[in-house]
Amino acid sequence: MPSPGPFDFHSVALPWLHAKPGAKWHRTPDAIAAWVADMDFAPPPVVVHALQEVVAGGDLGYPDWRHVTGGSPATDVFVERCARRYRWAINEADTLELNDVVQGIQIVLHLCTQPGDGVVVHTPAYPPFLHSVEDSGRVVVPVPAQRSEASSTGWAFDHDALDATLSQTPAKVLLLCHPHNPTGHVFSEHELESLAELAERHHLLIISDEIHADLAYGAAAHRPMALHAPERTVTIHAASKAFNLAGMRYAIMHIGAESVRSALATVPGHLFGAANLMGAVAAEAAWRDGDEWLAAVVQHLDAQRTLLASLLAEHLPAVRYSPPTATYLAWLDCRALGWGDDPSARFLERGVRLSEGPNFGVEGNGHARLNFATSPSVLREIVERMSRSA
Ligand SMILES: Cc1ncc(COP(=O)(O)O)c(C=O)c1O
Repeated sequence: MPSPGPFDFHSVALPWLHAKPGAKWHRTPDAIAAWVADMDFAPPPVVVHALQEVVAGGDLGYPDWRHVTGGSPATDVFVERCARRYRWAINEADTLELNDVVQGIQIVLHLCTQPGDGVVVHTPAYPPFLHSVEDSGRVVVPVPAQRSEASSTGWAFDHDALDATLSQTPAKVLLLCHPHNPTGHVFSEHELESLAELAERHHLLIISDEIHADLAYGAAAHRPMALHAPERTVTIHAASKAFNLAGMRYAIMHIGAESVRSALATVPGHLFGAANLMGAVAAEAAWRDGDEWLAAVVQHLDAQRTLLASLLAEHLPAVRYSPPTATYLAWLDCRALGWGDDPSARFLERGVRLSEGPNFGVEGNGHARLNFATSPSVLREIVERMSRSA
């Protein structure tokens, strides 16, 4: 076993995991939880320390931030980090703090589109994308993922076909997931450029969900969509995936599009609530002091995505899997098993809970999503159980 270094991602044991109160493990008392996108590890020590300091300080009253409704110190750290990490120069005045990423998506869809408007989504899609569009009466315009030997990520999207579709049936928004959940595809500079051109030609507003930005492997450095279409893009970020803080409920939106800025100016300031003190403190600590932990966890996840390939080859060779270029999510094509639209039901009978493929849209039929952000021994147990007869 490799040395855990200053951070230990190897010692998560099943009894400790099953005792966790969060949704991922608490809802699966009889199975190993490899579904919802939380990692099995404790959060970064720098974040825990920052939260403990606030509690020990004894003041959980209104924080003394610049504006009552937002503008916590996390925004400054975010702005500084975007310049340092992504070479993306932005102004704090163009940011808005949120409780979560999906809230930001829904705010922009609500303010800037009407029922019946088309929203372009790369499918299969993170299920709340589909719900956010469909439950508000907007219409998904799908761009299906295709396997591609030529692509460095193993996936490609036919943007020429999308161009032709939009010429016939106009849409209002491109709702981008970059990097893409569930395929782990990182959109290349060329793809981002062609999406920016397409958005310009078809007058699309771009909402770019970049929550998985810091979970890219190898040479796949993150490049924000907004670098290619600065005046058309709203970017939404959070520390929650890369630093394992989803329960802190904190996200941030950068508004590059003037139409969104003016739409937001028409609504009362408190309509969307204000950032939570602890969420902002956690994000600030993660973004300011969490780089060492982040590098270590990405290195661990990188080894896990490769380990998963060898475990599947050994135990479940009929399952097709391309290691993701980003994220700790593995998109498993289980169609060769002949288990119908939802193979996760069969894996659950065998004692492993995966995310159900059909929830990601019709392209998800016959698929399941596996979360490999755990220890090597738990991952081994996951695949061994998946391959056992029920
Ligand atoms: C692409 C993507 N966006 C958003 C979220 C959820 O973010 P939040 O809980 O901040 O709404 C997830 C969670 O897995 C995700 O994968």
